[in-house]
Amino acid sequence: MKKEGGVLILAIESSCDDTSAAVLRDGVLLSNVTASQAVHEAYGGVVPELASRAHQQNIVPVVHEAIKRAGIDKSELSAVAFTRGPGLMGSLLVGVNFAKGFARSLGIPMIDVNHLQGHVLAHFIKESEDDNDQPSFPFLCLLVSGGNSQIVKVNSYKDMEILGQTIDDAAGEAIDKCSKVMGLGYPGGPIIDRLARQGNPEAYEFNKPNIAGYNYSFSGLKTSFLYKLRDWVAEDPDFIEHHKEDLAASLEKTIVDILMKKLRQAVKDTGIKQVAVAGGVSANNGLRNAYRDYAKRYGWKIFIPKFSYTTDNAAMIGITGYFKYLDGDFASIDLPAYARMEK
Ligand code: KG4
Repeated sequence: MKKEGGVLILAIESSCDDTSAAVLRDGVLLSNVTASQAVHEAYGGVVPELASRAHQQNIVPVVHEAIKRAGIDKSELSAVAFTRGPGLMGSLLVGVNFAKGFARSLGIPMIDVNHLQGHVLAHFIKESEDDNDQPSFPFLCLLVSGGNSQIVKVNSYKDMEILGQTIDDAAGEAIDKCSKVMGLGYPGGPIIDRLARQGNPEAYEFNKPNIAGYNYSFSGLKTSFLYKLRDWVAEDPDFIEHHKEDLAASLEKTIVDILMKKLRQAVKDTGIKQVAVAGGVSANNGLRNAYRDYAKRYGWKIFIPKFSYTTDNAAMIGITGYFKYLDGDFASIDLPAYARMEK
């Protein structure tokens, strides 16, 4: 099945509010094009129906652009990889059905990819042939996004063990909700990150959960943030405006401390000192600095993705699809999308 010119994968990601397409040759990225959806900003969160409609509008131009930038012709493609889930069903359906139709029309196989597995394997995206700064197996990966917060033990490309995960809100969700309570824009993560750089992380204290094992919880922190803020604003209506940098820095520090404490425990217990981070929240500067600090203090070898591979992107779906291609692990035409974790 391997064509001349290597294995060329077209990858499509449409699980939430980013329409993305990428082309990889033998695991090396040739193009990665993403159209984000500004339409949700006015609503303070992703509106599923609007996301689905925007994917419909974006998918053809985004795929077209990815193929063009890769400098290939679609007839050269070996397979089409797509995000099957988890995600928003209306969003997934656009990418899944487009991928099926595209693969069928070219007579090439299609490969279904688990979005979360894609985030973890983003560390294996190569930007050139000699790009070899990748973790070896096994390694630990903190996967932190708008929908998930997990500590994953990665035994191989295929074998990933979830050691712990959030029992309620994800870290990104907590940041976004706290930012919304402060009246900041959406998504809150990058705004909190920017404000936090100018604030004092020790200015305020918020609740930290006390959960057994490697699991996380962020709902108590969110409630404590909300109640404290309400009391402060009752005393001073301009409180948020006057203290937003300190609030952001203290919130960020609390979340980073919660994440790192469990991760450090997992490193101690497993003895695995190669530690990666992935997902949208891994763009956070406070978290990245904490990784660098732990690397120095505890001798971790750390893997921090490039900013462009932290939030949803098709490059990570492409690299996962490439590994599945090498295994001959293809999807059938009747494979449905799934909104929640199934496998
Ligand atoms: O992985 P992702 O793009 O989408 C999901 O699959 O969930 O993650 C999105 C999350 C949002 O909650 C967003 O606020 C957060 O990642 N995020 C950040 C930063 N950039 C994005 N959180 C903290 N600091 C950032 N710089």
